[in-house]
Amino acid sequence: MISVSILNGDLAHLAQTAELVAASGADALHYDVMDGRFVDNLSFGLPVLSSLRACTDLTIDTHLMIQDPLHFAERFVKAGADLLSFHIESRSDTAETIREIHSLGIPAGIAVSPDTPVEALFPVLPLLQKDDFILLMTVYPGLGGQQFLTRSVPKIAALSEIIRREQLPVHIEVDGGINAETGAQCRAAGADYLVAGSYLLRSEDPAAAVRSLRAPL
Ligand code: DX5
Ligand code: ZN
Repeated sequence: MISVSILNGDLAHLAQTAELVAASGADALHYDVMDGRFVDNLSFGLPVLSSLRACTDLTIDTHLMIQDPLHFAERFVKAGADLLSFHIESRSDTAETIREIHSLGIPAGIAVSPDTPVEALFPVLPLLQKDDFILLMTVYPGLGGQQFLTRSVPKIAALSEIIRREQLPVHIEVDGGINAETGAQCRAAGADYLVAGSYLLRSEDPAAAVRSLRAPL
């Protein structure tokens, strides 16, 4: 799955941004929510998601970088999220938040910041179901347009190996600094969901950029 982060897109023309994402051939639109507490930045929240939902049929891959995702999960699903990820480093209980998202009827994603080891996921991996995913951050959360952290690659490979060994039905999503080159490194290490923001939105030819992310390894 190729998911396009609109964080650095033209937010005054969200409908056109969504059209650009759809026309690029990407599979999903990645919606980054920041609360100024979990990360030192603010982006957009529930009303903007509802407006976006009304103007696109794309899968909306919602990434909560907020302190209390459990408290807000239901409202984000009602506003139109199709996939909902939240951080293991947030204040909400991870197991409870996964159960809440499942009870709302959509796949759950557990997001992991660069300094959190994959071992932190071990207690909650058995709770994950088909179509759930682990979102490995390949930059520090909070801003689009940052440089990919190369040290993420062995982390992806380690998680991928655990998923394979335990036969878990989950995907690995990578997010931050993804372009044709870093995307290929992540796919080779086992990631199958790629989030790309600035690489696509700054490209003269977004469809070619999407194709480059799907290019044979
Ligand atoms: C970072 C966000 C990412 C980011 C991706 O906090 O979670 O989704 O916007 O943007 P690029 O691809 O520009 O790094
Ligand atoms: Zn994101």
